[in-house]
Amino acid sequence: MDVLVTGGAGYIGSHTVIELAAAGFTPVVIDNYSNSSPHAMERVRKILGSSVPSYGGDIPFYEGDVRDSALLDQIFEEHNIGAVIHFAGLKSVGESVSQPLSYYRTNIDSTLTLLDRMYAHRVLGLVFSSSATVYGVPEQLPLTESMPRRSTNPYGWTKVMIEQILEDLTNTQEGWNITSLRYFNPVGAHDSGLIGENPRGIPNNLLPYVSQVAVGKRDRVMVFGDDYPTADGTGVRDYIHITDLARAHVAALRHLDHPDVYKAYNIGTGRGVSVLEIIKAFSAAVGRDLPYEIVARRPGDVASCYASADLAREELGWSASLTVEDACRDSWAWQSNNPDGF
Ligand code: NAD
Ligand code: WQD
Repeated sequence: MDVLVTGGAGYIGSHTVIELAAAGFTPVVIDNYSNSSPHAMERVRKILGSSVPSYGGDIPFYEGDVRDSALLDQIFEEHNIGAVIHFAGLKSVGESVSQPLSYYRTNIDSTLTLLDRMYAHRVLGLVFSSSATVYGVPEQLPLTESMPRRSTNPYGWTKVMIEQILEDLTNTQEGWNITSLRYFNPVGAHDSGLIGENPRGIPNNLLPYVSQVAVGKRDRVMVFGDDYPTADGTGVRDYIHITDLARAHVAALRHLDHPDVYKAYNIGTGRGVSVLEIIKAFSAAVGRDLPYEIVARRPGDVASCYASADLAREELGWSASLTVEDACRDSWAWQSNNPDGF
């Protein structure tokens, strides 16, 4: 089945394209390269050529914006798209606070345009990239899918609003088959060392920052607070290996068998890991202690956030199998092979 992957040149999209091809799907990618580059697609093709020789084909790629209706129509006319995975969008919490309109315009307009053209071409299967951010500040842990959707920042609100749009569409327009995957903290890289997380500028997220300290681009890890009510006082999160996350999309596609019923699943490990534990694990991967400094808390951070991953296991037959140690090992292989990104 041909699967349209929006944002498929990005961090999660590129890893998912590989797992889709390995699972026998035919990915078709649209990406405007606003946060990625052609290098990503070259590396994906190289990985497929060596690790998935049965795939054999190329990855049809369309450079453009998901808000371009004519381009979407061209893709649906040129390929027998059976379902869509929608990664394309802006994803920085901090940036969304300083540029809210850009986030609402990009994330929501692109989704509305995509849904409109999907319906016009009667392509009604969709897997949407949602986020644990839709839970807002956790009041109870682990987080379960039945908890209310809300947010504390424009980025998170775009995910809450898009999930509401998808749920309303499912309940009002017959035939939609939609699953949202709520990712917790994606980390790591492909075990080939050829693709990984390649943030522009100073990384907002912990793993890429630690990785850049390890390769000497940054002098030390700034630990945002050690006075949280957690075992070692530092923030606790649910870090999911990017390959496990990519495989969750294959599982979701295979279970797109619930027309007229909207579904959402937590994609996490169900285990909370602290900042200091991450630094320790990455230090072990590198083979030396990485320098860090305890500094003030980052505004907006919560102490702990981790998933109940039971529903995805029960209904999608998916659960995480890789560890944070695997993620640190694979991140280090990627970073040390590509000290300046691609
Ligand atoms: P990313 O920025 O690496 O990938 C997004 C891709 O979409 C990029 O290649 C970018 O060029 C492309 N893109 C953006 N806007 C576009 C548009 N209008 N038209 C076409 N292409 C466009 O981000 P990612 O980490 O791979 O995240 C993918 C999705 O997963 C996003 O929707 C994000 O909100 C969501 N998500 C990410 C995380 C995370 O921590 N990385 C966590 C939860 C959810
Ligand atoms: C993890 C932990 C920090 C950097 C974010 C978004 C979320 C989702 C995933 C899109 C926290 C600490 C971090 C650093 C640190 N993205 N930290 N020093 O904030 O859990 O989630 O990315 O959907 O929406 O909010 O991830 O990696 O930024 O932080 O001490 O240099 O590491 O305080 O405890 P976060 P993160």
